[in-house]
Amino acid sequence: LTVALLFGGRSAEHTISCATAGGVLSAIDRDKYDVIPIGITRDGAFTLQPDDAALFALNPTAMPAVTDNGSRVLWPDSAATRELSVTAASGQRRSLGTVDVVFPILHGPFGEDGTVQGMLELLGLPYVGNGVLASALGMDKHFTKTALEAVGVTVAPWVTVSPAQWAADNELWRGRAASLGLPVFVKPARAGSSVGVTKVTVAEKLDAALETAWAEDGKALIERAIVGRELECAVLSGRDGSATRVSLAGEIIVQGDGFYDFEAKYIDDSAAQLVCPAELTEGELAEMQRVAARSFEAIGGSGLARVDFFYTGTEFVVNELNTMPGFTPISMFPKCWAASGLAYPQLIDELIELGLQ
Ligand code: DAL
Ligand code: MG
Repeated sequence: LTVALLFGGRSAEHTISCATAGGVLSAIDRDKYDVIPIGITRDGAFTLQPDDAALFALNPTAMPAVTDNGSRVLWPDSAATRELSVTAASGQRRSLGTVDVVFPILHGPFGEDGTVQGMLELLGLPYVGNGVLASALGMDKHFTKTALEAVGVTVAPWVTVSPAQWAADNELWRGRAASLGLPVFVKPARAGSSVGVTKVTVAEKLDAALETAWAEDGKALIERAIVGRELECAVLSGRDGSATRVSLAGEIIVQGDGFYDFEAKYIDDSAAQLVCPAELTEGELAEMQRVAARSFEAIGGSGLARVDFFYTGTEFVVNELNTMPGFTPISMFPKCWAASGLAYPQLIDELIELGLQ
């Protein structure tokens, strides 16, 4: 089978997507799959990249990125063919062959948000992971929470506000924000890896935090900080219509009084510890898995997701769903599946199988 691996992209999580691709390139079963590595530059150019896992390995001191080598990958010119081609920097065009499935390992806007999924639907190309609706819902924290609340999943109380609303009716919005208490988290509605997220502990810092969030997206969420353990689990669709599968639980143990921000996620490996399986009773795990499956189904999920929780000791509060979670070999998504009996290369197989079904 020929797999087109799409990575990089126009979002603030460009480098994380490259690191995820590095992981997949190093682990994908070469006896089963031919891989076409397609790197999307930060400007949105589709380039053919070397099939070199080391080039895209997660490196805290020099995060990987797609460099524009002048090549341009061309999508099939109709939905009746699955043939990709590439023009070299010289202008010469050649076929890349027929692609069986596209693996869009893209995080954040323009990749994890339904836009690329919509393009692949138009082109008639099978792809791994969530469809247009689930991707768009999962990307937008406001609409994720709205969909989860509608099916009775508990989420942290929040308000969503744009700069125009905040300016026009400042007293009203400040009042709404104040009703959440402190601390709060201020987040862009559509971003990932904690880019643009601030923990606000004093009211005077709220405006600056909103500006930071609005720099990433036109809407920001102000969300009550939930006191509890930070737990995550990984979800896979069932095969051929069977039930949603949920992994064992993983736990993020953050050192000190910080939070699990970008630095703790990828740069400073002493800032947070990822433990899987997390210590939970059988009953707690079953409840967490039930809520994870319910959440995945509430956004119309297919393929995969990672569901992030706060556990207060009595309740599993869903923080968010990630429809293309970080997928480097040390990331929580593969870690949770490995602990549940599905090793990284088999997980890639499984995702590709799900994409083809
Ligand atoms: N948004 C990052 C990649 C994650 O959820 O893992
Ligand atoms: Mg996220």
